[in-house]
Amino acid sequence: MPEAIQNITSEKTATLPFLEAKERIAAVLNDYLKQSKNGKEVVLDQQTPEHIAEQLQLNTIFKNGFQNVKSLEDFVKTYLDHTNHLSNPRYMGHQVAVPQDLSGVPDWIHGTINNPSSLYEMGPAGATLEGFMINWMLSKLKWFKGDHLCDFSTLPNNGSGVLTHGGSVANLTALSAARAAIAPEAWTEGNPSDLVVIGPATAHYSIARALSIMGMGKNAFVPVPVDANEVILTEHLEPVLKHVKKENKRVMAVVANACATSSGLFDPLDEMADFCKKHKLWFHVDGAHGAVALLSKTEKSKVSGIERADSLIWDAHKMLQVPALCTAVLFKNQEHQWNNFRQKGSYVFHENEVIGMDSMPFTVECTKSALGTKLFWSFALQGEDAMTTFIEHSFQQARDLYNYLNSLENFYCPYPPESNILCFQFRPDQLSDQNQLALRYELINSGTFYITSCVVQGKRFLRTVLMNPDTKQQDFVELANAIIEIGDQIQ
Ligand SMILES: Cc1ncc(COP(=O)(O)O)c(C=O)c1O
Repeated sequence: MPEAIQNITSEKTATLPFLEAKERIAAVLNDYLKQSKNGKEVVLDQQTPEHIAEQLQLNTIFKNGFQNVKSLEDFVKTYLDHTNHLSNPRYMGHQVAVPQDLSGVPDWIHGTINNPSSLYEMGPAGATLEGFMINWMLSKLKWFKGDHLCDFSTLPNNGSGVLTHGGSVANLTALSAARAAIAPEAWTEGNPSDLVVIGPATAHYSIARALSIMGMGKNAFVPVPVDANEVILTEHLEPVLKHVKKENKRVMAVVANACATSSGLFDPLDEMADFCKKHKLWFHVDGAHGAVALLSKTEKSKVSGIERADSLIWDAHKMLQVPALCTAVLFKNQEHQWNNFRQKGSYVFHENEVIGMDSMPFTVECTKSALGTKLFWSFALQGEDAMTTFIEHSFQQARDLYNYLNSLENFYCPYPPESNILCFQFRPDQLSDQNQLALRYELINSGTFYITSCVVQGKRFLRTVLMNPDTKQQDFVELANAIIEIGDQIQ
């Protein structure tokens, strides 16, 4: 090695030797997991950002860097003190995966080698794993026509898909493809003014946001009425379409929730698919959370008809135990993906004669991380069957909590859960919406539990999302007790 290079390398490694630093951090993370999992520590110790910045000595470390492995280790320990402990069985919060112990390895590898996989030659292994996992997802929808998942050729009747950074970007990608199908000129000339999207009023906000970003304006979303639990009322699809047509508008896509973010309930996909088929409309299923029901024989009926969609989004960082972010956008007809972004950068996009496949032409992002590796890893750590068991267990946890809360006085659950999301209220006759919210804050500030809240049909609910396989019946008992104790003080 030339002398100058040797000096640079040894100077760096003298301060922070790779193996020692990684081993110390691994030990710290190991302790973190152990403590989180025993459920006795706080789930979340909420502090102000000023306090956290001071504890982490941000100014000093930013200026001078870590002085040695010990200072790095101390920083990580303090950092971990100020995190939301998703591995704690009393974490029942947002739809964010509770990773497996070794789920972070792909992020570590990626952070070390930095092979963005959107361009095959910049990350052949990552791009291959993405291709494999997309084939697997397509196969679950019967949109994959190859004999085996390692067939990466573009088979004519195959569906297609890409991994992208999150469900919001995925919805944008799918809606853009729907626009390319109905108004291909929009890419160059801008939107025609007559396009609308229809779907349940409770569609995730990223749908309306995507329409705004696409320059259609969020009013281009025409809500279809929903029932008391915010599931779409399919009998209103025809009248809404009639109304839209009367206004000389064209429907660019019909959107379904599978499942809805707040309630965790599924829209009737088969009925919506019938409607779309009858009127030759693009059917987009937002399966960010609930598409995983596909994997389970017992839960599958909830997404019956999902394979009749034109596009589907599926977040792996929700129910497939992948650390954020990783979402698939899938198309039944591969041409819809090819036609989506009508743009080409001569320096990046592969021609046919070159080895491998690039996802870059089909994503909003140019550079993206090795998302396929994270997704593959989640299965590799346990095997495909264990993933199905995890999903079924999570859905069962919500039913267990529902049954338990229903057996108590003063708790109100408006509907039996269909996924692992459960909404409920404590003493709805006495505690106002404001008080339900106050109850949640008291609870999470106590550090004993982490739950969320949402509004369903204008009323405030407490909400649990059961993502942690270690959450047990006893945790439900203690959750109810903690809510009763706080609720008694609030009224
Ligand atoms: C139904 C639905 N769609 C889309 C999204 C957005 O996904 P992301 O948070 O990955 O952007 C969410 C997030 O909760 C969701 O529940």
